[in-house]
Amino acid sequence: IQETHQVASRWTANYIARKIQLANATEEKPFVLGLPTGSSPLETYKELIALYKAGKVSFKHVVTFNMDEYVGLPKDHPQSYHSFMWDNFFSHIDVQEKNVNILNGNVDDVKAECQRYEDKIKALGGIDLFLGGIGADGHIAFNEPGSSLTSRTRDKELNYDTIVANSRFFDNDVNKVPKSSLTVGVGTVLDAKEVVIIVNGLSKARALRHAVEEGVNHMWTISALQLHPKGMIVCDEQATYEL
Ligand code: GLP
Repeated sequence: IQETHQVASRWTANYIARKIQLANATEEKPFVLGLPTGSSPLETYKELIALYKAGKVSFKHVVTFNMDEYVGLPKDHPQSYHSFMWDNFFSHIDVQEKNVNILNGNVDDVKAECQRYEDKIKALGGIDLFLGGIGADGHIAFNEPGSSLTSRTRDKELNYDTIVANSRFFDNDVNKVPKSSLTVGVGTVLDAKEVVIIVNGLSKARALRHAVEEGVNHMWTISALQLHPKGMIVCDEQATYEL
């Protein structure tokens, strides 16, 4: 728990940078980093960019896997998670384009795309650190309430609450928000060697209570983090309001 989101984000960025440094990654044995979109990680990305610019971390041997992507949005749509990641992070660091993995929400064969993603993660020896955020209903990636806690990468319909929450990026028009997504599963996240979740603001207070003080429950998919041997939540004081 940190006093503000800003301080929590700086802490998270330093933590990730240190993990990357300590890994002494190479082209053959890269550091595998899972990444989220949304407003929660934005400050962390800014801090990581600052660390990169100060020469304190390099992403040259980091392979990234994003958590999720909308179905049916063109890759270059300003609100695609592909655009989000390049605009807010990848374009500002030395990550190699070939090392960036984002689910393709425009494929005909969704099953094959999801299997390809899982296989690629496995072939690299798994994800070293999965960074994430959560929705106000406790969803992680797009694993909406009711998702199996052993779920793998798949397509997932979005809940109406999530569509409303995300409409702020689509001219506040729910009709413009895609209705489904491709997302890593809860099981995919839990397979990572380490999971770090950023939670900030009053709107996440209820979800944080379910995450850490209530039982493991598929209606609050973030609660599955309790099952992880190395799961960590980094939050600001506002998010702890219900603890
Ligand atoms: C979306 C994303 C999640 C993210 C959540 C919260 O649903 N798929 O990965 O954690 O939004 O977003 P924000 O951080 O903007 O509150």
